[in-house]
Amino acid sequence: MTPAQQELFDAAQAAQARAYAPYSHFHVGAAVRTRSGKVFAGCNIENAAYPQGTCAEASAIAMMVSAGEREIAEVLTICDGELVGTCCGGCRQRIREFAKPDTMIYNCGPDGIRATFTMDELLPLGFGPEHLLGG
Ligand code: THU
Repeated sequence: MTPAQQELFDAAQAAQARAYAPYSHFHVGAAVRTRSGKVFAGCNIENAAYPQGTCAEASAIAMMVSAGEREIAEVLTICDGELVGTCCGGCRQRIREFAKPDTMIYNCGPDGIRATFTMDELLPLGFGPEHLLGG
């Protein structure tokens, strides 16, 4: 892992430790780095009314936008388990809003990076702001 990836990993892992997931018991952390170099992290937050829960990626993006940043340079997620915890479909779309086709997305387990994708690989032909704003 590069020092930059390690910084994202540490931020995502710290957020994962604060996940509120009493129903799934599946704790997720996410961290985004903005083009300006700032790092924002978030965790999944479940709810007794199940559909009201939020994913870790959504939490990290909420922190980023609330701080006045809107350009994602790279994303890292971390979860437990044996499988690669790829971002859910909804989160691919959420990241897409603030990313570029070549934005890197790292999916990690406790052991480190398990898979690396570009935004375009995770969400090919995705619908984005340029469709509404005329490019
Ligand atoms: N989860 C995330 O936080 N991110 C994803 O991309 C996949 C799923 C969360 C949502 C829920 O709290 C738990 O993982 C189980 O689905």
